Amino acid sequence: MCGIFGCVLKYGNAAPVIHAALKRLEYRGYDSVGEATLHEGRLYMKKDQGKIDEVHKIHDLDDLPGSIGVGHTRWATHGAPLQINAHPHTDCNGQIAVVHNGIIENFSELKRELEERGHVFKSKTDTEVIVHLIEDKIKANPSVSLADAVLETLKRIDGSYAIAVISTREPNKIICARNESPLVLGINENAVYCASDIPAFLPLTNRAVIIEDGELVTLSSDGFEIRKIVDSTLVTRATKLIDWMPEMAVKRGYPHFMLKEIHEEPSCLRNTLRMQEHYLELMSSFLDRAREVFLVACGTSYHACLAASYMFSKLAFLATYPVVASEFVEQHGKSVNIDSTILAVSQSGETADTLAAVECARRRAATVLGLTNVMGSTLTRVSRVYICQQSGPEIGVAATKTFTSQLSVLSQLALRLAKKRGKISQDEMDFLEERLEKLPETVEVIIQKQEGKIKQIAKKYKDAKTFFFLGRGISTATALEGRLKLMEIAYVPAIAFPAGESKHGPISLVEPGFPVVFICPKDETRKTLVGNIMEMKARGASIIAVVEEGDEEIEKLAEDYVEVPKGIPEVLSPIAFVTPLQLLAYYMAVEKGYTPDTPRNLAKSVTVK
Ligand code: M6R
Repeated sequence: MCGIFGCVLKYGNAAPVIHAALKRLEYRGYDSVGEATLHEGRLYMKKDQGKIDEVHKIHDLDDLPGSIGVGHTRWATHGAPLQINAHPHTDCNGQIAVVHNGIIENFSELKRELEERGHVFKSKTDTEVIVHLIEDKIKANPSVSLADAVLETLKRIDGSYAIAVISTREPNKIICARNESPLVLGINENAVYCASDIPAFLPLTNRAVIIEDGELVTLSSDGFEIRKIVDSTLVTRATKLIDWMPEMAVKRGYPHFMLKEIHEEPSCLRNTLRMQEHYLELMSSFLDRAREVFLVACGTSYHACLAASYMFSKLAFLATYPVVASEFVEQHGKSVNIDSTILAVSQSGETADTLAAVECARRRAATVLGLTNVMGSTLTRVSRVYICQQSGPEIGVAATKTFTSQLSVLSQLALRLAKKRGKISQDEMDFLEERLEKLPETVEVIIQKQEGKIKQIAKKYKDAKTFFFLGRGISTATALEGRLKLMEIAYVPAIAFPAGESKHGPISLVEPGFPVVFICPKDETRKTLVGNIMEMKARGASIIAVVEEGDEEIEKLAEDYVEVPKGIPEVLSPIAFVTPLQLLAYYMAVEKGYTPDTPRNLAKSVTVK
């Protein structure tokens, strides 16, 4: 995700300080970089696509005058990773500059309105509306302060943001603000800093001030002043002493990226709910027209496709074929044709097997749609339409936050298609949309309430030689994903299959104490699933169940259980039910002394076939 930084120095040049801070934010992932400073009434700026070192070689990022400035590492969401889209963005007169991390939901409407009023946009980003709106506020009221112009601007903005703004009008200030995207201040005797994350300024100071949602801050060489955006009231906030080592700081205090990324799931889910409507509309139109639809992916992304096949079928009455990408050419290479549509799902957008399947489909004139987390990846370039899920970079090799976000996007797509096809009543649609909106909070509650218990379960089963993961219906996908997580990071052999298959073979493995994880949402499959639990219990299996809160029947049958909040609709259930399984795998790996972020033999992006 993007990183922002700003500094007001009492002495010296800001540019080298910004440059060094951006280097320390590199771990967040980015594709472009930029800086802007103020000096003697002028705004200076340098920005380009590429890594910091490459951009520095060409533009000399340290060569900007002035002791105040802002910087940015961009991870593209709206607009390709090109120089023109790199931050900072400036107003029409080049006097105000803004850097931003987040997503402006209503940018299309705002952009239209601003263009009608004569503003000229240079980029394809959502961010640029912010700076033109500030310019507009100042034009309308020339005596307004920069802070108030920013404050009024933010009242018009829906979405998430951490921003930092500088202007030649008030050349000794940075105005920054936050809503949902992280923002922290760093303070020492000679400077104030604002940043997306503590590591940006950690070598300069260990005194930090955490900015909360809905707050706006004015930074100057005198210090900082925090106000509430809603009513301008002043806020007092004490500084915090940070005792993290730099390595811990990039993980925000979590021992591993994987745990940090699981904890980020609620905010990533919120991002998926801010997607531009027209992408969903366009993609669902292609799906609607297709004679046959293949959902193609590998590993975790394949499990998202499997879950999506249930969503499309149950909501939109559309039959789709989930296919493991490495098998696509063998299985469908001869039959795929101009009437086929391929929806390729790949977090990285670079998985060789997925791209090979896409290439085969393209050669045979099929329509290619893409869902990915990486804007500018190969998948975005070869897809007719693509959606970027905006989960931010995932560093742990095991996919976690990107999986739940994929599921959220795919469920929204299925809903959109169901509406288009008239397969869903307005009441049902409203109900599902409302539940979807609540999912970030639901996942937050699961993590908050169940993490401690899951840790204990991991301790108890840490020496188990093998596991079963069972579910029925859409929960088969959840079971497969739980099993993959456990195998890949805790190195425990595990088997997952639809629970109905047990009696056709696998149950012969079960003996007393054999751990079987059941995924038990309260859907239509539940009654039969209870039968499957009994079968396992009769053979001495130890049942670990993921259940809805208060499901006493299954809780009594289970040795151990983890609860998720009540009332999650079946088609959305994998999003909530998988989080406990990710945590279980994580804590099993930790209990066994492994490093979950870098499991042996695995790469984050598999670029060979
Ligand atoms: O980047 P992709 O989504 O295309 O990656 C697909 C798989 O390689 C990936 O999901 C892999 O299975 C992960 N290790 C799962 O945690």
